[in-house]
Amino acid sequence: MHAVRRPFVGGNWKMNGDLASAVELADDVCAALGAEGIDRTIDVAVYPPFPYLFTAGRALGHSNVLLGGQDCSAEVGGAFTGQVSAGMLTDVGCRSVVIGHSERRHGLHEGHALLHEKLHLACESGLTVVYCVGETADERRRGEADTVVAHQIRHGFGTLPADRVARVVVAYEPVWAIGTGVNATPEDAQAMHASIRGLLGSLYDSRFAAQARIIYGGSVNAKNARAIFDQPDVDGGLIGGASLKADDFVAICRAAAEAWSGAPGH
Ligand code: PGA
Repeated sequence: MHAVRRPFVGGNWKMNGDLASAVELADDVCAALGAEGIDRTIDVAVYPPFPYLFTAGRALGHSNVLLGGQDCSAEVGGAFTGQVSAGMLTDVGCRSVVIGHSERRHGLHEGHALLHEKLHLACESGLTVVYCVGETADERRRGEADTVVAHQIRHGFGTLPADRVARVVVAYEPVWAIGTGVNATPEDAQAMHASIRGLLGSLYDSRFAAQARIIYGGSVNAKNARAIFDQPDVDGGLIGGASLKADDFVAICRAAAEAWSGAPGH
């Protein structure tokens, strides 16, 4: 982690839990983070399922933990059955949104043009976008990981000016590492993060690149988090499975805070 960039850790709850467990998790996470002051040191966000957003947001109360949506529409509003707009997210208290998660890119075949439009509208709504990119196992095997990720970033950001996308957090999530228990090695994550930062430098400028937060996602847990976060270009994580247990998620947030402050690892 680098001292100039405030770490960002997100908990992507995906389609898990029920209303009661969502409230309990939100309660437990913000109480534990608040007690240690971690949510004042780093940025932490949780992404509950849509129907639980409002209630989970209430449970977060006045804590600094950000509420976020797991996706938003590429449309502003109208006859789009089942979709949720960026404006609706802000209306229920969201300050962040995940866009381009592989479970939507690959699982639901969301393409470059659609994701660009989502990113654009979400930024316009003032949401902090976590924009996910990452290669499949086959693409990595063929040596195409860098090209694939660069392509996803170029299309996602498109021609949006730097001031519009200043708050976008890029999440590098190799598809083969998501939910598999096989995380990228800290060195592989660092190599990809450095190349993403280089690309952002060429798309915008070196100042933009130096300030952009690039987080890693894919089988991060309480044990491996610190080694990954210790890499100079890794600015935090997007956490799936391990974000469903308050203790694990809080331990991962603590690891990010400690990596940032340079506290010795355990
Ligand atoms: P995982 O998911 O931590 O369960 O691998 C990460 C993600 O999908 O964001």
